[in-house]
Amino acid sequence: MTALTLSNVCKSFGKVDVLKNIDLQVEDGEFVVFVGPSGCGKSTLLRVIAGLEDATSGDIRIGGQLVNQTPPAKRGIAMVFQSYALYPHLTVRDNMALALKQEGQPRDVIDARVSEASRMLNLEPYLQRRPAELSGGQRQRVAIGRAIVRQPKLFLFDEPLSNLDAALRMNTRIEIANLHRTLKGSMIYVTHDQTEAMTLADKIVVLRDGRVEQVGSPMELYNNPANQFVAGFLGAPSMNFLPAARVGAEGGRTIGIRPEHLTIAADGPLSGKVVHVEELGGDTNVIVDLGKEEKLTVRLFGQHHVSPDSPVSLGYDPQNAFMFDQEGRRVA
Ligand SMILES: Nc1ncnc2c1ncn2[C@@H]1O[C@H](COP(=O)(O)OP(=O)(O)O)[C@@H](O)[C@H]1O
Ligand SMILES: [Mg+2]
Repeated sequence: MTALTLSNVCKSFGKVDVLKNIDLQVEDGEFVVFVGPSGCGKSTLLRVIAGLEDATSGDIRIGGQLVNQTPPAKRGIAMVFQSYALYPHLTVRDNMALALKQEGQPRDVIDARVSEASRMLNLEPYLQRRPAELSGGQRQRVAIGRAIVRQPKLFLFDEPLSNLDAALRMNTRIEIANLHRTLKGSMIYVTHDQTEAMTLADKIVVLRDGRVEQVGSPMELYNNPANQFVAGFLGAPSMNFLPAARVGAEGGRTIGIRPEHLTIAADGPLSGKVVHVEELGGDTNVIVDLGKEEKLTVRLFGQHHVSPDSPVSLGYDPQNAFMFDQEGRRVA
């Protein structure tokens, strides 16, 4: 079964077209991540799916049912926001139970679902606390718990980890991945963070300026980007781009080489000067200036001591290089 189908969905605010002809399918149980730079329309698309905004045109189907006219509460979705949006005067238990009470669920159903969700999210010790008495990570888990108890057909997450510090973000990311495995629910997760997208998604949807640039599994997009935008967006450090003429290829084109595919070679085709070295312990990033304001990042596995200012030459396997035309389309 298909959890969600979007057909030619457009959304404009006045004269501003924010979403342009979005076609998309989310399969049952799939974890889909919308990723793209700030302002590209990710939240708007999620809000259109949730029914918090009306689509200007196009069809939205959830579980095969056309829901364009269906109010948010009747769409079978639950949404988790970056801002948690918990009720400050309610305990953790009551925050999680509220939507079920409003649905008129019987007491024993509410108790069973809240118990199960709080066990899954390790919230059992905090059920009597109010949100102000919790850490940011715990609050976000309550917000997730509030979505779980509703047993929605589709979970929507809008940058749920953005307010957490780096260590907690990674832990919570792993918890969300585990949760998806346990619940087997369909999830759409919005982020501007390519690492979150790569690590969580079954399927990534790359958005840019209100359009879908490419859809695919993380490795499909990494290994086979359709264009220069996708190639540059996924991967950290990001792909290096150079005028192809610099390596003797056809003029007007751009060559793309990932940092891990460059090597420091005795007589490689590219030569320059080391301008900066980032020693990360597990990896070493060497930034090389080729002149003409062209800088490349070389990612070396392990620890290397490279002195800034030393001259280097760089090599790569042409099989690992990408080629883009003037419009940024992939040509090789
Ligand atoms: N209610 C609104 N009225 C007018 N413009 C809006 C509204 N909501 C969002 N936008 C515009 O739509 C674009 C996409 O916004 P948004 O979906 O929030 O992007 P993202 O979540 O990818 O950062 C932005 O240019 C934003 O200014
Ligand atoms: Mg947003």
